[in-house]
Amino acid sequence: MAKIQHDLRNILSSAQLASDELSKSEDPSVQRLAPRLVSSIDHAVALATNTLRYGRADEHPPQRRKIRVKPVVDEAFEAALSGKERVIPDDRVDAVIEADADAAQLFRILLNVLRNAGEALAEKGGTISVSAAREGAATHIDIVDNGEGIPEKIRERLFQPFAGTTRAGGSGLGLAIARDLAHAHGGDVALIRSDSAGTQFRVTIPDREE
Ligand SMILES: Nc1ncnc2c1ncn2[C@@H]1O[C@H](COP(=O)(O)OP(=O)(O)OP(=O)(O)O)[C@@H](O)[C@H]1O
Ligand SMILES: [Mg+2]
Repeated sequence: MAKIQHDLRNILSSAQLASDELSKSEDPSVQRLAPRLVSSIDHAVALATNTLRYGRADEHPPQRRKIRVKPVVDEAFEAALSGKERVIPDDRVDAVIEADADAAQLFRILLNVLRNAGEALAEKGGTISVSAAREGAATHIDIVDNGEGIPEKIRERLFQPFAGTTRAGGSGLGLAIARDLAHAHGGDVALIRSDSAGTQFRVTIPDREE
C-alpha cells in the first residue's frame, strides 16, 4: 500500500506541475477548464499525502516538553485560514498557558480541527474562538466556531478514518489523525457540542507523570 501511494503521489505531482503550466494559457477554453483540473489534482495530492502519512507505522512517539500553547495556536490559525478572508480567528489563549506536548504534533492536531472549522465557515463567514485552560494535571484547548454544525449522519463515525467526510475532496482523515496524535500523548480530541449554532471541539493533553 505504502509503495503504491508513494508512486501515486509522485505521478500526481507531475500532473500538478503540468496543470499549473496549463492554467497560464491564453486560450479561453483552457482558461475555463484549467482551474477545475488544478483543484481536482490538488485534492488528489492531498488525499494521497494524507493516506500515506496515516498508514505510516513510523510516526514517531511525541517528543514532549513544556511548551506555550498560544504560539502554536497562532501558527495553526495562520495555516488553516490562509485565503479564507471571511473567517475571523479569535485567539483567546492566555500567553502563559503551557502544555506538555510535542509542538509539531500539537500543531497538526490544531491544524486539522481548525481547518475543518474554517471550511465550515468559508462560504458564509464566521468566527473561530480558541481558548485554553489548565485543569488538574492537564491542558484543555477549546475550539469553538459559529457555523451550522456537523451533519447528523456523520457524527457517530466522525473520528473513524475515511468514514465521515461530507466535502468533495475531503479524505475523512483529519479528525482520525488528530485523535491518534492526542492519544499518543495520553490525551484526546472530543466533540463537545454541535448544533445549528456552532461546534465545539476539545483537545486534552495531560502532563506526563513525574
Ligand atoms: N467545525 C465543523 N463544522 C462543521 N462540520 C465539521 C466541523 N468539523 C468537522 N466537520 C465535518 O466532519 C467531517 C470529517 O472531518 P475530517 O477532518 O475527519 O475529514 P475531512 O475534513 O472531510 O477530510 P480531511 O481533513 O482528511 O481533508 C468533515 O467533512 C465535516 O463534514
Ligand atoms: Mg478535515
